[in-house]
Amino acid sequence: MGFENILLEVDGGTAIVTINRPKALNALNEDTLKELDQVFTDLGADDSVHAVILTGAGEKAFVAGADISFMKELTAVEGRSFALLGQAVFNRIENLPQPVIAAINGFALGGGCELAMACDIRLVSDSAKFGQPEVNLGVPPGFAGTQRLPRLVGKGRAKELLYTGDMIDGQEAYRIGLANKVYPAGELLDAAKALAKKISGKGQIAVRLTKSAINQGLEMDAARGMAYEAEVFGLAFSTNDQTEGMTAFLEKRKPEFKGK
Ligand code: CAA
Repeated sequence: MGFENILLEVDGGTAIVTINRPKALNALNEDTLKELDQVFTDLGADDSVHAVILTGAGEKAFVAGADISFMKELTAVEGRSFALLGQAVFNRIENLPQPVIAAINGFALGGGCELAMACDIRLVSDSAKFGQPEVNLGVPPGFAGTQRLPRLVGKGRAKELLYTGDMIDGQEAYRIGLANKVYPAGELLDAAKALAKKISGKGQIAVRLTKSAINQGLEMDAARGMAYEAEVFGLAFSTNDQTEGMTAFLEKRKPEFKGK
């Protein structure tokens, strides 16, 4: 399927998804959200893809938010549907079997910050700007910003950002735990590719089980989370990757994982 608002490139085990509406600073309208849903559905079913990088086209923006021109005339019912659509797409990204690395190359505002937070890891350029400016538009966030931001940076910091609409730069995002690492703009994509490659070289079933244990476990109390972890740990012992990984260690050689 061809996409109008998204570019997809697959290089080895890494897929790069680029949101491609640079004239609108990659703002998310309904069509773009639906295309994102499709591309991540396809990637999730493709076992040859081991990691996904999500970025924005152009030098200015990752995603400057949900599309304000699209939203302006929505009715209450349509607004609710739009929020549910965005949330469903971001949940699909968060729960993709493979890790998703956001390469945040500029503005990540509103729905853009919310999209970045649905990714597993956020690498950012020193020119990146984060914020949840919805209150400037007379609305609260709708794509799960009120839920993911406090879980990532804590309730107090999240409330300050959400109530003021203030923008913060990449360094500040790093300081409060919103960003994993900050790079000079020209080095960001290569850093994301290197990280994706590093993860691709590990046991892929182990990576997927780890992601599942974190995502599922954080929704449970600690005892249930640990019980779930023990289940996925046990499951790994049914795989060739476990035999190969442990045998290779004892034979003092590099493992050759097959993802089986
Ligand atoms: N929706 C639609 N169009 C957008 C947009 C958005 N979120 N953000 C930027 N654009 C468009 C601008 O309208 C402009 O289009 P034209 O050239 O046709 O006029 C183009 O992108 C370039 O933007 P600017 O001229 O404004 O660029 P700038 O450098 O002066 O400012 C900016 C950049 C600070 C990011 C500014 O564009 C801005 O504040 N954008 C809106 C950010 C925002 O409020 N995002 C939250 C949206 S609400 C949301 O996301 C709700 C939710 O949780 C679901």
